[in-house]
Amino acid sequence: MALHLALFLTAAALLVAFAQSQTLFGYEKTQLTRKYVASLPQEDARLFAFEDQFEDRFEATAVSATECKVNPTDKKWPAERAWKRLESRLSSPNNLIAAVPQASVCYAPTRDDAQCQQLTRNWTNSYTHIDDPTEVLSPIYQGLTCQPPLIFDSGNCTIGGYPAYVVKATAVSDIQTAINFARNDNLRLIVKNTGHDFAGHSVGYGALSIWTHVLKDMMFFDNYVDESGYKGPAIKAGAGVQAFELYKFANEHGVVAVAGEGQTVGVMGGFLLGGGHSPLSSIYGMASDHVLGFEVVTPIGEFLTANSTSNTDLFWALKGGGGGTFGVVTSVTFKVYPDMPVTTVSWTLDSSKIGKDKFWAATKAFFDRAIDNVDAETYSYNSIIPIGENFLSIMQPFFAPNKTATQLNTILGPYFSKLTALNIPFSPKTTEYKTFYPAWQAEFPLEPMSGTNSATASRLFPRSNFVSDIGKTTTFAVLRQTLESGKPLIAFNMAPRLLPSNPDNAINPAWRTSVYHIITGATIDPRSSPATQLAARAALTNGTMRAWRDVTPGSGAYLNEADRLEPDWQRSFWGANYERLVGIKREMDRRDVFWVDRGVGSEGWRVESVDGVPNENGPLCRVGG
Ligand SMILES: Cc1cc2nc3c(=O)[nH]c(=O)nc-3n(C[C@H](O)[C@H](O)[C@H](O)COP(=O)(O)OP(=O)(O)OC[C@H]3O[C@@H](n4cnc5c(N)ncnc54)[C@H](O)[C@@H]3O)c2cc1C
Ligand SMILES: *[C@@H]1O[C@H](CO)[C@@H](O)[C@H](O)[C@H]1NC(C)=O
Ligand SMILES: *[C@@H]1O[C@H](CO)[C@@H](O)[C@H](O)[C@H]1NC(C)=O
Ligand SMILES: *[C@@H]1O[C@H](CO)[C@@H](O)[C@H](O)[C@H]1NC(C)=O
Ligand SMILES: *[C@@H]1O[C@H](CO)[C@@H](O)[C@H](O)[C@H]1NC(C)=O
Ligand SMILES: *[C@@H]1O[C@H](CO)[C@@H](O)[C@H](O)[C@H]1NC(C)=O
Repeated sequence: MALHLALFLTAAALLVAFAQSQTLFGYEKTQLTRKYVASLPQEDARLFAFEDQFEDRFEATAVSATECKVNPTDKKWPAERAWKRLESRLSSPNNLIAAVPQASVCYAPTRDDAQCQQLTRNWTNSYTHIDDPTEVLSPIYQGLTCQPPLIFDSGNCTIGGYPAYVVKATAVSDIQTAINFARNDNLRLIVKNTGHDFAGHSVGYGALSIWTHVLKDMMFFDNYVDESGYKGPAIKAGAGVQAFELYKFANEHGVVAVAGEGQTVGVMGGFLLGGGHSPLSSIYGMASDHVLGFEVVTPIGEFLTANSTSNTDLFWALKGGGGGTFGVVTSVTFKVYPDMPVTTVSWTLDSSKIGKDKFWAATKAFFDRAIDNVDAETYSYNSIIPIGENFLSIMQPFFAPNKTATQLNTILGPYFSKLTALNIPFSPKTTEYKTFYPAWQAEFPLEPMSGTNSATASRLFPRSNFVSDIGKTTTFAVLRQTLESGKPLIAFNMAPRLLPSNPDNAINPAWRTSVYHIITGATIDPRSSPATQLAARAALTNGTMRAWRDVTPGSGAYLNEADRLEPDWQRSFWGANYERLVGIKREMDRRDVFWVDRGVGSEGWRVESVDGVPNENGPLCRVGG
């Protein structure tokens, strides 16, 4: 009898273990528990306690209204001994990394000319930064304090806006331990995945950084059954999975995932948490529309699931509320769809060859077809670049998922006829692909890092702008003026509607009525005085972009590719969703453990940069201090 009971209990325990192992990755099973923390010696228990643990025994580090997060020059900065305690509590001693800028090999006292030359040659290759624990693709927001001299001479190499320490996460317990440590000692906490963020959200002076890059596990479900009613294929992917890895994995299973165009973007990090636009957006909407569940570590230090039945507010907020704000996501489970053929077309128009009048007529004719293109469920990526007195328009590519070349010719027919009528010599290159993956691989080149001198800004252009002739003309005039002032455009023509089969989420409602997401930028000379840099920024934010806002009243901008100085950002990035988002943030993160500039609930703090220009090189302090 006793034996039977024991066998029965073992079977039940195994069942539970089986259900969990279906949904958690190996690295998600190593967790920090309150019980474990309670068993630690007093010193460690204080360092690693969950936010709500031992509230009676340890006073919360009170932050006065004027205080800053503790930084390395403060007396309160954790002693060497505390960092050693942190190191010893991680799942591997190699997981605590003291940040060293790569380009320190170019400057005294660690100068090594051969290594510096090698690094300089590699610098514009984005992998040089993505695979590094602290480098980012928009180093202007680090403060440019340690670049290879041939790229940008920093004079010497200082840590600047790089974090002080990095926890390389290889287990959920590493993330919990790092969050608890940072919160309990009132340190600045940041999260870096790939470092693609255009606004510097993955760097921060004096911070402890959680690096999610190596969490690469993926799992395919043939027939995932979600209690909300979805029944079909799904993928669960780790926080570090990048687009090139996800697309390959999906292809091997005969499905497509709604992810971005960029090869190296971290799909489960900032991309998806900010919404995520995709070459499939005109069919399927935004990437995070398709999420079934997140595994996430919260500011309290807890590891939990957010899905349509558990932690539903957080589930809603993580789909579009932005990265680095609500916690650290460790994996995402999302719907995927049957693979499909794709046809692409690419072409260029060069005003130095066809003349400016024809160039503008041809370019306007394409923008005039904004609605026709997205209603045919296509997506296009059009760079238009001023070169001296001239302009080059590169369509690379016009991407038509689930369309044959014949169907695509029908879609683009009216545009091609217009070019013929304008007597513009024209040789589009059309390619048919049997499946999505090879089309994506061949058509979107590896994008280089953005360099040391560019500031991005963008706007969502509503469908209503392209309904009437006068709307089309007024809208195009603004874009043309931007180009004529020497600024480039990257124009994405797509319409990411929310499908009725997907639940509502926090994504900027402006996306749902837009047919164009257009990016521009200004050159900021980092050598010029802070006043000159601020003036160049003002000209972008309040000059160029003001004209864009004026022609798109009530619309907004995509937070992942926006102006770091976006005005009225709460409304611009989230519209009517902001109020609910900030309520969720206040409830989840009472101590402001997570903070990014212009993130949800970020109003109470600002980075006091050493040079006064917008970047992460300075302490994070309370506003009004
Ligand atoms: C070359 C290039 C191509 C791009 N293509 C596209 C595109 O096709 N579609 C599109 O929508 N966007 C695109 N983007 C923009 C992209 O979505 C953003 O840069 C995005 O922030 C990248 O996320 P990441 O995790 O890779 O970057 P990171 O810079 O590492 O992180 C970005 C933000 O997310 C936070 N974060 C990262 N991981 C986590 C996590 N696990 N949990 C919580 N917070 C986290 C970080 O703290 C930071 O705030 C592109 C950008 C570049 C540079
Ligand atoms: C840097 O360049 C060298 C040779 O040019 C190459 O072997 C190395 O892999 C590169 N590293 C990166 C990170 O690209
Ligand atoms: C590094 O250079 C900067 C700018 O020239 C200067 O302000 C700073 O004092 C230097 N720091 C060190 C450690 O030499
Ligand atoms: C949400 O996650 C919980 C915890 O893992 C799980 O029990 C529940 O079934 C999930 N809900 C749905 C709709 O799948
Ligand atoms: C793709 O096209 C086929 C045939 O035209 C159609 O039946 C199918 O629904 C389309 N798929 C999607 C996802 O739109
Ligand atoms: C734009 O103008 C507003 C209002 O005058 C001002 O507060 C803001 O700082 C300006 N933005 C920039 C980038 O200069």
